[in-house]
Amino acid sequence: MCGIVGVTGRAPALPLLIDGLRRLEYRGYDSAGVAVLIPASALPSPGAADPASGIHESAQPRYVLSRHRSVGPVSRLAALLPDTALLPDTVLLPDAAPAGHGTAGIAHTRWATHGAVTEANAHPHVDAAGRVAVVHNGVLEDAARLRRQLLAEGEALASDTDSELLAVLVARAQRAGSGPEDAVRAALAGLHGTWGVVFAFADHPDVLVCARMGAPMVVGLGRAPGGDPRHDRTLVASDPQALLPWTRRVVFLEDGDLALLRPEGAVFSRLDGARRRPQVRVLDTPLAQVELGAFDDHMDREIAEQPEVLARALAGRLAADGTVVLGGIDLPPRRMAALPEALLVGCGTSLHAARVGAALFARLADLPAHAAEASELALHPPRLHPDALVLALSQSGETFDTLQAVGELELRGHEVLGLVNTVGSSLARRCGAGVYLRAGPEVSVASTKAFSAQVVALTLLALKLGRSRGLPAARATALARALLDLPDALAATREACAAPVAGAAALLSTARAVAFTGRGLSAPVAAEGALKLLELAYLPAMAWPGGALKHGPLALLDARTPVVALVPDDETRAAALTGLAEVCTRGAPTVVLHAPGDADAAALATISLPVAAADPLVAPLLQVLPLQQLARGTALALGRDIDRPRNLAKSVTVA
Ligand code: F6R
Repeated sequence: MCGIVGVTGRAPALPLLIDGLRRLEYRGYDSAGVAVLIPASALPSPGAADPASGIHESAQPRYVLSRHRSVGPVSRLAALLPDTALLPDTVLLPDAAPAGHGTAGIAHTRWATHGAVTEANAHPHVDAAGRVAVVHNGVLEDAARLRRQLLAEGEALASDTDSELLAVLVARAQRAGSGPEDAVRAALAGLHGTWGVVFAFADHPDVLVCARMGAPMVVGLGRAPGGDPRHDRTLVASDPQALLPWTRRVVFLEDGDLALLRPEGAVFSRLDGARRRPQVRVLDTPLAQVELGAFDDHMDREIAEQPEVLARALAGRLAADGTVVLGGIDLPPRRMAALPEALLVGCGTSLHAARVGAALFARLADLPAHAAEASELALHPPRLHPDALVLALSQSGETFDTLQAVGELELRGHEVLGLVNTVGSSLARRCGAGVYLRAGPEVSVASTKAFSAQVVALTLLALKLGRSRGLPAARATALARALLDLPDALAATREACAAPVAGAAALLSTARAVAFTGRGLSAPVAAEGALKLLELAYLPAMAWPGGALKHGPLALLDARTPVVALVPDDETRAAALTGLAEVCTRGAPTVVLHAPGDADAAALATISLPVAAADPLVAPLLQVLPLQQLARGTALALGRDIDRPRNLAKSVTVA
């Protein structure tokens, strides 16, 4: 969950580290910190400790770890640092860096697991002598026992975190005579838990060591073949986005991997000491996609991008006659025809997309399908037919619960296909086959465009399965037309909803709680609308299938508990209108999503949100956008931080 970035090179490290943290801030933003190796000679009085900046000393050190940490956003940390405007390509002469600057360092933006949000708990952590610093993403098992043991053995600890223990263990191994790589290996060998971890060493100022177990870690190779060695730089991060401005050549670590980084390159090995041959990948993500441009926040940009995302997700995959080509899911027609059932797993927004997908598999392909919450499935995996189609959905490809569920399903002999957005992520590499969502990097913590891309991919898969399982050609052609028209229909919906959404957001911002309803295919979309609203606006928001309201939830309704109702033009419309009438009778204001000409629905709406008319099976893709706008608008009216809702982080890489 936390963001990690590290670099060792020949130029000032701080500008690059701070840039990396800014790019990763969406992964965790409770606190942030940085530690750079600086020559002791650059200190005000050489070798002296500087308590204000957290500089540590040992007898006559040549280099010291200069550490700065702060609670709050990266901008607050940056304000504490020496001038980071130094050009990152300025080559520094050894031992002649401007005050506070060094050429190697590690940095971290935190999402708290162990220990409250305080400066003392912010990373990097150092051992008591200040010779080893660590940034860590993950959770150590049995940390309480290890802490007691280390304290009993006379170690001093300064934080409540499990991560600090790593610095202490590595420093101990160093004192026992190990070099950096072996010290990390020795420390990690005895531990259980998850880590994406990077260490820096005051006694080896141009070396970083990183390792991975259950939390992502990617090494960036900055030396251009044949390039000027004075510009060598090797980087590491928890997410390739932090590396994009500096290098495109990366190596993703696998669980049990370790890497020793120097400016001129990296050496990869396994925890048991065996050497590993790295597979170098070249990232092709355009940098512009992660920048804000003219938008106010990343969520705004990502909502607006959806027509384009739909077009990308369809490109080259769907012909006008309904023929679907999904390169990564190339099941022979006979296997598709014989599939006994399907299971789709994911969390949060990905789970809502999975629910839409399961409904589409049932309708278009007559395939019994259900969607499962990954965290529950990992505890109690269902008994599935051995030939079941199993799919895992994830935007980040790093969600711990989803990866764990995939592990359980694989243990039971199932091949799991991935629907993943992030290229090269853990899930993408783990699933032998699957499709990429092509949504582009999603930065805002609240997922938007990934949902749309997932639903498109699932609709295509349902269509493909359907054609092998009796779906008539004419129906496939009609649906293909609706899908190909979607980008325009979505752009029209976005524009038509902009003004009424503003009114609806003003209404919701004074609410006590908000109820969402939808039936059939619209039920998971209503759930997604409620999730968006509660995570962004911090309002109690619940979703029920329309028919369930009268079995309890109606008791909630009053003038300050509005209902957001989805009334698509499909077989659920009549029942949805009946339910809506019951809501109006109870005096609750209503925000109703309906087709532009639906006068019956409009008559029951306090505020109408017009959703372009389309084939009912693509309606979820049109309904979700106004709900995203509504959540964002309400959160803005309440003064919330849109891209960084409290207590949350993008990529939930812990249990
Ligand atoms: C909600 C949201 C989360 C994620 C969930 C799964 O807006 O973003 O609910 O959908 O944490 O994440 P991925 O899709 O990365 O596995």
